[in-house]
Amino acid sequence: MFGGSVVSDERLRLFCALQLPGETIDELTAWQAKQLRNGRIVPPENLHVTLAFLGSRPAGEAPAIVAELREASSRAGAIELQALRYRETRSVGMIVLRDVTGAATVLAEDLGARLERLGTYRFERRPWLPHVTVLRFKERAGLTPEVANIRSIHVVRSALYRSSLGPAGATYDALETAALGGVSDGS
Ligand code: 2AM
Repeated sequence: MFGGSVVSDERLRLFCALQLPGETIDELTAWQAKQLRNGRIVPPENLHVTLAFLGSRPAGEAPAIVAELREASSRAGAIELQALRYRETRSVGMIVLRDVTGAATVLAEDLGARLERLGTYRFERRPWLPHVTVLRFKERAGLTPEVANIRSIHVVRSALYRSSLGPAGATYDALETAALGGVSDGS
């Protein structure tokens, strides 16, 4: 796990997220191409729903983080997310999601509490907002696209991601994935 070459003082920029099913990625990619401009469209491999952003952590913490992610994920109920609206902050455009059963919020809170107990994470002051970042920009894009036609998202896996910052933007690699409870994803 995490490669044999990890040296003890290596640090990784880490976050935990819900992975999106392939059909959702396809649908969002088509929607982005049609609706978005005035910024950098987030590529399909970078689309996810962040549960907890840990920032730069010692690589040696990753196995314990994965263990907590697996435990919290296995306890989660069925997660269904619906696109509510498009929203822009100063730097990104996102699709805000409705957590239909409430199970995603319970998972985010359970995971956050577990990671806090590990000492790897501190809860953000704001309540967790389920969303997918779809556009990045330096100046607000000023868009108001409809999201009504995006279908419900049934989430089956979470993952611990490493984020690597580069000149062309961040690259996200799923280091480990975890099955969510309340679903059978056939793996
Ligand atoms: P976002 O989806 O709202 O942009 C990796 O950077 C992921 O962690 C991004 O998806 C980002 O969320 C999320 N994240 C949350 N807080 C962050 C922070 N302070 N800095 C960078 N990324 C953060």
